[in-house]
Amino acid sequence: MDQTLRYDGRVVIVTGAGGGLGRQHALMFASRGAKVVVNDLGGDAKGCGASAAAADSVVEEIRALGGEAVASRTSVEDGPGIVQTAIEAFGTVDVVINNAGILRDVSFHKMTDEDWSLVQRVHLNGTRSVTQAAWPILRDKCYGRIVMTTSAAAIYGNFGQANYAAAKLGILGLANALAEEGRSKNILVNTIAPAAASRLTETASFADFMNNLRPEAVSPLVGWLAHERYNDTKGLFEVGAGYIAQLRWERSQGHCFGAARQFTVDDVAERWESIVDFSSPEHPSTLAESLTAISRALSV
Ligand code: NAI
Repeated sequence: MDQTLRYDGRVVIVTGAGGGLGRQHALMFASRGAKVVVNDLGGDAKGCGASAAAADSVVEEIRALGGEAVASRTSVEDGPGIVQTAIEAFGTVDVVINNAGILRDVSFHKMTDEDWSLVQRVHLNGTRSVTQAAWPILRDKCYGRIVMTTSAAAIYGNFGQANYAAAKLGILGLANALAEEGRSKNILVNTIAPAAASRLTETASFADFMNNLRPEAVSPLVGWLAHERYNDTKGLFEVGAGYIAQLRWERSQGHCFGAARQFTVDDVAERWESIVDFSSPEHPSTLAESLTAISRALSV
């Protein structure tokens, strides 16, 4: 197998690496020379319970294959603890793969505070906690690769996943801000929306379809986004079953009433077709690019 792209000397934290996608990511990094922190709390798919076996078994698997790995059995809510494990075992951290996740699917009118807050805590707060604990180290060394995990269910919306969608797009917002803050320090932050069979998809309405999607088909993109040769940031990618594509924002050309002109609800209704006309779209990728349209309106 071609192994041109390697991670020798790099320390990689993979959260939620005791199973599913995270395990595949960890195996891939270790097989290419990385020192891997295998983090996993070992609870169930709804975030209940804990077990050391999840992280430990993947560490054993990696070592049996001749790789280097250490277990971190704590929740991603304890980012400093996970980063401390990396420091104690390997002296630093270079790459953070934020992957840990749970599901508490339920329609919004039945969603409890616990359903809402546990999903925010694991996905959004956990991603924040691990990333923020690693951030000063990455800044000091002027090197870092961070991969966030969002979901198509959040990007496009899905019934019964209001808690998950909010958390997962929160992660995308975090990634976008950190991509800007990390840019000058060579800390690149990219996000994937994967699709793969795992215990999280066993109960999905389209589980039969998902069963065909191998989790190992997601790891090559994660590896590329985390490699020193990859040099772009703020990307969002859909990945699964051997398919990889990038997503971006698209804005209709819109209609400019002009900043100086008074306009009404009736004017908006009258111009609606051109406001939502995507025939000549724009693709702003920064706040400054986004504001150019508003700025044009000021001069009309
Ligand atoms: P999985 O359930 O197989 O793996 C998630 C891992 O995270 C588990 O091993 C679990 O023990 C661990 N985990 C859960 N809470 C944790 C915590 N507080 N601290 C540390 N570890 C914790 O599920 P899968 O599918 O591999 O999910 C990986 C990521 O991909 C998740 O963020 C998920 O939301 C996301 N995702 C997966 C999709 C799919 O099609 N499988 C679709 C879209 C997103």
